[in-house]
Amino acid sequence: MARVWLGVIEHFKEILPITEKTPVITMYEGNTPLIKAENLEFKIKKEYNVKLNIYLKYEGANPTGSFKDRGMTVAISKAKEENAKVVICASTGNTSASAAAYASKANIRCIVLIPKGAIALGKLSQAVMHGAEVFAVEGNFDEALKLAKEISTKYPVTLVNSLNPHRIEGQKTASFEIIEQLGFVPDYQFMPVGNAGNITAYWKGYKEFYEGKLPSLKVKRDKLPKMMGFQAEGAAPIVRGKPIKNPKTIATAIRIGNPASWEFAEEARDESKGVIDTVKDKEILNAYYLLSSLEGVFVEPASAASVAGLLKYVKIGYFEKKQNVNVVCILTGHGLKDPDCAITTAKKYVKIKTIKPDIKSIVKQLNLS
Ligand code: F0G
Repeated sequence: MARVWLGVIEHFKEILPITEKTPVITMYEGNTPLIKAENLEFKIKKEYNVKLNIYLKYEGANPTGSFKDRGMTVAISKAKEENAKVVICASTGNTSASAAAYASKANIRCIVLIPKGAIALGKLSQAVMHGAEVFAVEGNFDEALKLAKEISTKYPVTLVNSLNPHRIEGQKTASFEIIEQLGFVPDYQFMPVGNAGNITAYWKGYKEFYEGKLPSLKVKRDKLPKMMGFQAEGAAPIVRGKPIKNPKTIATAIRIGNPASWEFAEEARDESKGVIDTVKDKEILNAYYLLSSLEGVFVEPASAASVAGLLKYVKIGYFEKKQNVNVVCILTGHGLKDPDCAITTAKKYVKIKTIKPDIKSIVKQLNLS
């Protein structure tokens, strides 16, 4: 009989802070596709003579369309266990969508603080449809997070941003899942960095695997991947070494000037001998369209920072002497989150033509022979 997937808590409870008393609030998140990017591999081989094995971890396939669900199932289940009545988060969009959905399933009130006018339409639609109490803060994400933190310390309200350790615990399951899907540990992991919770979680997961956690996972524990994190050029506090007051990037999800998990991200970079570097908005948009048009994988702009980073490192000759390595790119969120950006970007490549509703007028425009 086929194995049924019942979410990350059920699958990974051995490595999560879950007891018999924890009410499991799940929407069967996790178990997302790890897609071999053959067309991208071919392009890179042809243009740069570098042979890589590239895998795309498509976290947009989670129930609310982003990786946040892995952490949210644990954070909301623990909040429920602790009898929380209200949760709060600041968000560039995906955390709020996920928190709102899981809180509604748990019958918990959800307060969401978003930077005014700076979150993608799909994400806002989710937060309001799931019945969250949404406040648009006249400020950026960093200011909204400061507010959320303060409210959660002064009132009986649980913070479900990635500062909540249960979020990190849930998100670390993605490392174990990648290893399970591959049957080996990848050599490199490319990923976007915003508030830096996700790179923290992945690194924690990889280290725990290396140290022997989840013994039922029978894969050689022989190495750790290099963590290659990418911030948008106009929102790159870790790379610049100082907070950015007015972060700017088309990738609104990672428009963050003072990441909460800054030090953990640096730790992941240094311990793994990886990098945290920048990618330009132009490079993000190029990778964004490439993923959709070449691999059939539609992501939101922030997610494309991983592949933009990979292409940047291919171009600068980083892989020259290291052919045939295994690279995983984390695609953090679904493309439908940000339809405005998709339409604007695709306009450069595709024109929608208007035609009369008859076959002659279509055929005239098509080159089918
Ligand atoms: N990609 C997407 C699609 C995101 O939504 C985020 C963060 C990141 C990457 C970066 O992950 O913050 O753990 O380094 N989104 C948060 C939010 C900030 O509020 O939804 P990170």
